[in-house]
Amino acid sequence: MLAAVITELKDIPKAKDADLIELRLDYIKGLNNTKLKSLIENCKKPVIVTNRKKGEGGLFNGSEAKRIEILKNAIKFGAGYADIEYSSGKESIRNLIQNKRKTKIIVSYHNFKETPANIKKIYGNIKKLNPDLIKIATNARSVTDNFRVFGLIGKANKEKRKIIAFCMGGYGKFSRILSIILGSQVTYASTGKGKESAGGQLTMNEMVEHYRIKKINKNTKIVGLIGNPVEHSWSHIMHNAAFDRLDINAVYLKFQADKLKEFIEHMKNLDIIGFSVTIPHKVEVMRYLDEIDKQAKGISAVNTIVVKNGRLIGYNTDCPGAIKSLKRITELKGKNAVVLGAGGAARAIIYGLMENKSNVKILNRTAEKAKLLADYFKCDYGSLDDIKKTDYDILINTTPAGMHPHIGGSPVPPDCIKNGAVVFDMVFNPYKTKLLVEAEKRNCRIIAGFEMLIHGALLQFKLWTGKEAPERLMRLKVMEFLKNAGH
Ligand SMILES: NC(=O)c1ccc[n+]([C@@H]2O[C@H](COP(=O)([O-])OP(=O)(O)OC[C@H]3O[C@@H](n4cnc5c(N)ncnc54)[C@H](OP(=O)(O)O)[C@@H]3O)[C@@H](O)[C@H]2O)c1
Repeated sequence: MLAAVITELKDIPKAKDADLIELRLDYIKGLNNTKLKSLIENCKKPVIVTNRKKGEGGLFNGSEAKRIEILKNAIKFGAGYADIEYSSGKESIRNLIQNKRKTKIIVSYHNFKETPANIKKIYGNIKKLNPDLIKIATNARSVTDNFRVFGLIGKANKEKRKIIAFCMGGYGKFSRILSIILGSQVTYASTGKGKESAGGQLTMNEMVEHYRIKKINKNTKIVGLIGNPVEHSWSHIMHNAAFDRLDINAVYLKFQADKLKEFIEHMKNLDIIGFSVTIPHKVEVMRYLDEIDKQAKGISAVNTIVVKNGRLIGYNTDCPGAIKSLKRITELKGKNAVVLGAGGAARAIIYGLMENKSNVKILNRTAEKAKLLADYFKCDYGSLDDIKKTDYDILINTTPAGMHPHIGGSPVPPDCIKNGAVVFDMVFNPYKTKLLVEAEKRNCRIIAGFEMLIHGALLQFKLWTGKEAPERLMRLKVMEFLKNAGH
């Protein structure tokens, strides 16, 4: 069930897609008994009443007796659920449970710093109090912490206990969706950006539109992005829209993971059909795969994994995605192509350019790295400065220069952009980078990084599902998102 967290009464209409309304009594100003009664009685959805004190992530600063009395009043007024913190002490909790009437009591444990080593014991202690629901929300300091909390969901399911369990913070974001697939009862969402009541909380719109939370269930298959950072990625918007359109019971999640080996171990226990892989794992991930496609081997980087009968198979869709974007507007054979940058994305495009018989020159900030790559691919190289004396037909930026939030940046000065050339910038946020804006002024044909992203995503979708992805819809969803985000 999806609960919208209400911290201001004016936001209640924004909770229209929620199954439950959590009234954060500690946030809501000017709430007396009469107003609370009317709110609970007139609410069309079951209400969770929560009245957190400071130290439990809340704002309530009255006496403990007053805090509990407010919860009891809410029970009298017919609240669907009342949330009382484990830290309130056994006496208060037992007292509330004894007087619960028809209200379901949630006994909650929060830890905003960490997922403590004794988390199982805490679960056991709460279980002894016999509430209707056990809630555990801890801060994840790594991807692994999430899996420790998921272990509690499995335990509760076996013990036929109802549990709400997930992790907070950036590392825990995905758990707010995945926990529901695993059997957690409720996930919480804010009514908008800036209204979050805990770290990592997604908005109602993100939950419903971007992650289709209302459609996922215990049979939902998982696909995801592994990387760090992952926040800037739009892949979930494209893939989840495509799953929705084709009625595929799968969800694309973003896993912020820095310890790759640990993550791979844990994810083997989930119903995963595949992954996208991004910075910094595209090379390291190859160690953990059972099979690697020929092209990905040649590039020495994997950005897509398919999980088939428990086997992990690696592919690289950056290369065909980039080449397809280029071929839409230019021939490649015999063309002089300058590649700016010498990282993973450069490897992918250089492989494709060489396959298509272009003459490649790599220019990089650190010339030694350009040399290493040039030795591997047997092509020309130099420093970024060499752009001034290099002639070319195609200029490709594979560096992050110009990427959001540094949108004023460019890998080379505008006067080094050759009139009439093809200019391809792999940076996809913003849609049109400074390099592309300057290139257009010089009558260049331009390709935005988004083109490569979408072509790569179409190939990934096919690899994971065996089905053609709905390209127009995926483009539309990202464009809509960019417009709303003011890009
Ligand atoms: N559109 C798409 O679908 C798509 C797909 C993949 C990647 N990308 C984008 O491509 C970019 C690079 O990704 P990657 O995986 O290749 O990263 P990477 O492996 O970290 O390589 C980054 C390269 O850029 C250079 N560089 C970094 N900052 C720079 C700056 N401010 N000025 C000049 N050069 C700079 C680095 O030079 P040094 O060697 O001197 O450090 C390095 O050669 C990212 O922006 C990524 O989002 C886009």
